Amino acid sequence: MNPRAVIQGIGHSVPAKVLTNLDLEKLVDTTDEWITQRTGIKERRICGPDEAASDLTIAAAKEALADASMDPMDLDLIIVATVTGDYPFPSTSCMVQDALGAKRAGSFDLGAACAGFIYATSTASAMIESGQCKNIMVLGVDVLSKFVDFTDRSTCILFGDAAAGVILSAEENTDRGVLKTVLLSDGSGGKHIIRQAGGSRNPSVTEGPDAVRNSIFMNGAETYRFAVGALGDACCKVLDEAGLTPADIDLFVPHQANIRIIESAANRLGLPEEKVFINIHKYGNTSAGSIPLGLYEASKQGRLKKGDVVMTVGFGAGLVWGANLIRW
Ligand SMILES: CC(C)(COP(=O)(O)OP(=O)(O)OC[C@H]1O[C@@H](n2cnc3c(N)ncnc32)[C@H](O)[C@@H]1OP(=O)(O)O)[C@@H](O)C(=O)NCCC(=O)NCCS
Repeated sequence: MNPRAVIQGIGHSVPAKVLTNLDLEKLVDTTDEWITQRTGIKERRICGPDEAASDLTIAAAKEALADASMDPMDLDLIIVATVTGDYPFPSTSCMVQDALGAKRAGSFDLGAACAGFIYATSTASAMIESGQCKNIMVLGVDVLSKFVDFTDRSTCILFGDAAAGVILSAEENTDRGVLKTVLLSDGSGGKHIIRQAGGSRNPSVTEGPDAVRNSIFMNGAETYRFAVGALGDACCKVLDEAGLTPADIDLFVPHQANIRIIESAANRLGLPEEKVFINIHKYGNTSAGSIPLGLYEASKQGRLKKGDVVMTVGFGAGLVWGANLIRW
């Protein structure tokens, strides 16, 4: 039997600065009531001018190592899921590798927006199951506050910053670990959530007659429609492939983008409220940080115990979506 990728440790880091709905009322034409009703968000954490993705990620990585009681030299690979790394290059994962002194580890960043942690966990798990790696650190981080237009009320209310991640290790003869994964995408919907500047098509033309948007553009209604379908579909597919039903799930940790999207997926799956993890009111949508931050808080609150089956699901710009089933 192939080894399984089992979670050994978990860590997180969020910025100290809190941006509440009342703060946003002073920036754009919105209200706490509107934001709460339409999204479930009350506040989010925002990086300061000198803080960037690697600062949060390194702190989360150190906590995960301590939680796993693991030496950084034992890491074979570091994967950082992000679309808002410190720089286009070098990768944020290399900055983490250096800060940890993980001198044996390879490292790369993986870009799948809000589904980044799902994709990175799936990649790590396959590399462990194949025998290529024994210990892999998988982190999700995004600092979207730096790319939000704080005059655009339909996007600036949604996003916050966070990093969190896990260490996955090879274990033989266990029923724990990453059980099943599905990864899906539809590039034809790329235009619905896009940041146009900063890539090889529009390197950094954000001013003048050729200006393109440096900040996030989002077609909220279209994204909402996609998300409601994608979330439910990915969960049904991963359960089906694992031969499980929603009744086998102990905890559902979905990407925290909008409370209404989460509730509609939970209803479709017939999951009772107590099996659905929600922290969107405190953090907003933290993109690749969202799912591992949910896992972190759920485990620290005692809602995830050894042997529990947890289903995670993410969706985002790409469009991409996917789900993981993990026995904790
Ligand atoms: C963005 C989102 C919250 C908007 O909610 P909605 O119920 O769809 O609202 P609509 O876009 O239909 O807008 C309704 C009205 O509210 C207004 N509005 C938008 N943002 C507002 C705000 N922050 N405060 C007050 N009014 C707002 C709109 O301008 C619109 O006004 P109009 O009818 O006069 O044109 C919702 O579409 C959403 O969550 N989409 C998915 C986003 C997402 O998950 N993105 C990340 C994916 S990883």
